[in-house]
Amino acid sequence: MKHLIAPSLLAADFGHIADAVKLINESEADWLHIDVMDGVFVPNISFGFPVLKAVQPLLQKPMDVHLMIVEPEKYVQRFRDAGADVITVHAEACVHLHSVVQQIKSSGAKAGVSLNPHTPISQVLHILEDVDMVLVMSVNPGFGGQKFIYSALDKIRQLREEITVRNLDVLIEVDGGIGLQNAEEVLRAGANVLVAGSAVFKAENPIETIHRLKSIGVNNILV
Ligand code: DX5
Ligand code: ZN
Repeated sequence: MKHLIAPSLLAADFGHIADAVKLINESEADWLHIDVMDGVFVPNISFGFPVLKAVQPLLQKPMDVHLMIVEPEKYVQRFRDAGADVITVHAEACVHLHSVVQQIKSSGAKAGVSLNPHTPISQVLHILEDVDMVLVMSVNPGFGGQKFIYSALDKIRQLREEITVRNLDVLIEVDGGIGLQNAEEVLRAGANVLVAGSAVFKAENPIETIHRLKSIGVNNILV
């Protein structure tokens, strides 16, 4: 499959969220990535249900919700009801990760599990068959506009290898510090969903940037 591009709303102008969503609709973006932060799991607070509910009727593409919150199991159904098509929880935030993944799938959403930069892929190896996606963080979660952490590439390669060997249909999403300067490298390592916040919304021409990210032609050989 061709890789997917998921621009992150976190880098958009919050005074004009409807314009950002319209831009996503009119672009070649595949998903809209929505970062939910609780000020506990990460040292920042972003937005929650009311914002998702406002975005949902405007958005014509899948909503990819990245939960950087503790105890996400308490809120799965509410995020689903607020419009989430993909719900990703952090492995580090879930004591009963397998159970949370089943809960997400029962809600009707696709289930993703995210790994912080220091968390090894071994954390997901025993639930790889159960998830739709693994999100490899390439920055410490909490803020947009950070520098890409290159050790993420190794994790992506290892995960891709594992997914290929087991012949699974699991997406690898990578999030943080991605832009035109390193997207090809990330795709070559084995990613097939790229999140890009600042690189898209702070660009002079976001639609063209999304087009260029989407046009990179290396991934088809990998997945
Ligand atoms: C960071 C968020 C990212 C963030 C990426 O905690 O998970 O999705 O928006 O922003 P950039 O692309 O600017 O690093
Ligand atoms: Zn994110």
